[in-house]
Amino acid sequence: MFNFDFYNPTHIVFGKDRLGELDRLVPAKARVLVTYGGGSVKKFGTLDKVKAALGSRKVAEFGGIEPNPKYKTLLKAVEVVRKNNIDFLLAVGGGSVMDGTKFIAAAAPYEGEPAGLIKSRLSQIKTAILLGTVVTLPATGSEMNDGCVISYEDGKFPLFSKLLFPRFSIIDPTLTYTLPREQVANGIVDAFIHTCEQYVTFPAEGRFQDRTAEGILQTLIEVGKKTMDNPTDYDARANLVWCAAMALNGLIAAGVPEDWTAHTIGHELTAMFGIDHGKTLAILQPSIWNVLKEQKHAKLLQYAERVWNITDGDELSRIGLAIGKTRDFFESLGVKTHLADYNVTADKIDDIVKALEKHGLTALSETRGVTLAVSRQILEGAM
Ligand code: NZQ
Ligand code: ZN
Repeated sequence: MFNFDFYNPTHIVFGKDRLGELDRLVPAKARVLVTYGGGSVKKFGTLDKVKAALGSRKVAEFGGIEPNPKYKTLLKAVEVVRKNNIDFLLAVGGGSVMDGTKFIAAAAPYEGEPAGLIKSRLSQIKTAILLGTVVTLPATGSEMNDGCVISYEDGKFPLFSKLLFPRFSIIDPTLTYTLPREQVANGIVDAFIHTCEQYVTFPAEGRFQDRTAEGILQTLIEVGKKTMDNPTDYDARANLVWCAAMALNGLIAAGVPEDWTAHTIGHELTAMFGIDHGKTLAILQPSIWNVLKEQKHAKLLQYAERVWNITDGDELSRIGLAIGKTRDFFESLGVKTHLADYNVTADKIDDIVKALEKHGLTALSETRGVTLAVSRQILEGAM
């Protein structure tokens, strides 16, 4: 196992009917900006409950944070924060709202040009506004990590800072009941791939991390379809929501190698073709494993045996079967797994590879051996 630091200060407030506790969680004298997306939280009544719980505090609102939040939209929120001397941000929504709010938290007190924060990957921020979240979509783990992904110019850029961990996150599974099927499926795939990217690498004697990752994957397989077919099955939903948070809060990454190839190439697919984040991962992961079968041989075999109970046949056929079962799982949720399903044709591969090159993404995976030529092979395999 490698050396590691593990730090996660987010207070998780989990379960039914916990919104009223915002009064206890948000500092009493805070001037709050409540941020949200395109309106689902208005439509389903969550915003009203949040405002009621905040009581007599000074509360401003900023809506309209779009999926794959855009830098330009977030700058408008930064203006609101500065104008109203906001000192607490409360994100009510999915990954895009939570991520956008983290960027606002970093950009509002920053004295330089906010675009510099993206170019330098937040390395120079010294302070950030405190933030909390109310989660409405289980997927990204943003509610319990220090990352955010921002759309800027022609790309999507992941940024990290210890200052951006939410102070608390309210995770009420019932708030996710209103999600469209498609978004639930995207979220299941996202959490599944986050787990794989910290697990299907090379053996590093992280036995607890491996078994925890396998537990998350098996739970997602068990409850994924169930929660889609029975949206108000509380226990299925509660397990899904908790898996999504645990899949990307630092726990299973501690002391082991990581491979973010699917996410890295996936962000280019979203930026270029507008394909939902979760769907990009379902397209790429099977092909990545096919191309990197040798490099990941031992962990793919372990994945086949411990997650899919595949023990018969020679090693390569067990690995092939596990990759096939993974693809079938995504398809069973209604998530298509080929680029062609999203009308991306083979002649676009050149442009995708050029975008990776432009963004400096030329040495990916746990070995950094995924060059542009290997990314091209992965994309060809994903057609
Ligand atoms: O905008 P509204 O009207 O709220 O509708 C949203 C949006 O259209 C809707 N929705 C959310 N909760 C709902 C709901 N509809 C009905 N009922 C509810 N309870 O769902 C749509 C998608 O929302 P979005 O927040 O974009 O989805 P998701 O949570 O999948 O977030 C995706 C973003 O997170 C980033 C992605 O790159 C993408 O930009 N990621 C962030 C990560 C992180 N911070 O650690 C890691 C991830 O790998 C990911 O990259
Ligand atoms: Zn993701």
